[in-house]
Amino acid sequence: GKNIQTYIEQQISEIREKVGNKKAICALSGGVDSTVSAVLVHKAIGDQLTCIFVDHGLMRKNEGDWVEDLFKNQFKMNFIRVNAKERFFGQLAGVEDPEQKRKIIGEQFIRVFEEESKKLGQFDFLVQGTIYSDVIESGKDGNANVKSHHNVGGLPEDVDFQLLEPLRSLYKDEVRMTGEELGLAHELVWRQPFPGPGLGVRVLGEITDEKVNIVREADAIVREEIKNAKLDGEIWQYFAILPNIKSVGVINGERTYVHTIAIRAISSTDAMTADWSKIPHDVLNTMSKRIVNEVEGVNRVVYDITTKPPATVEWE
Ligand code: XMP
Repeated sequence: GKNIQTYIEQQISEIREKVGNKKAICALSGGVDSTVSAVLVHKAIGDQLTCIFVDHGLMRKNEGDWVEDLFKNQFKMNFIRVNAKERFFGQLAGVEDPEQKRKIIGEQFIRVFEEESKKLGQFDFLVQGTIYSDVIESGKDGNANVKSHHNVGGLPEDVDFQLLEPLRSLYKDEVRMTGEELGLAHELVWRQPFPGPGLGVRVLGEITDEKVNIVREADAIVREEIKNAKLDGEIWQYFAILPNIKSVGVINGERTYVHTIAIRAISSTDAMTADWSKIPHDVLNTMSKRIVNEVEGVNRVVYDITTKPPATVEWE
């Protein structure tokens, strides 16, 4: 692998040279990639960077407040949170196609940044947390064109800023090592990855408030139980999916016809290939019982036992 310290120094001097005394704005999602990018660029250009966190309403439980606290109070960066849920949900209403959903979310992201930045005055650079696997899977460097990751090549044509993508040549584990080298807390850096389009790609098909709330609550339970079982350091990603299937169930003699939740948990080193995690049955059992008891509108829980390939990590 790369020498991380050297890589950081190179990036810092490249960013300084490229940006000069101009201003940059950061596309924050709160995930590991965008966090490490922001901290790296902040290290290079300090207060010339402003981070904008677009809360698209598709974050995990309590995540928006957590991100705000982290950047404002801990990192003490220039930080703006935009509450854009109504706008995103409005644009996504009636849209079922996964690629179309990603495209809309990606475009709205950029548009919101653009609008916010205009309020701040001129800026010339946009920081994004693109990493090497995003580049490959979007077919920019190779032949593969698996999915359009919203943070790669999704710029509308009429924008007037350049991209800064300091992690573009790094694999995920290198991104995490970079974060640690930059002094970020271990738990923060080794958090599981979360896609930019958030719960938007974890509700299959059309996104509604109700479905997003169901998957958000189920996801919180999955994460809590993985943590309780002390498996959070071992499993690469673990989350809930709402496959948009209703099935028949029965509770207290009454028929129900409501949603299914799928649990996905995988081991991987770079998300290019993955194996499904052999979570102990008693842990799965606790998750299942809690989800059907605590999350209204769910009567069935299934576990995804597919490797990547042929399945992808996400279901969309
Ligand atoms: P897939 O589903 O393609 O996921 O096997 C590989 C890794 O990428 C994450 N992922 C995304 N990350 N924007 C992102 O920033 C996206 O649109 C996106 N789609 C998938 C996924 O969680 C896994 O870690």
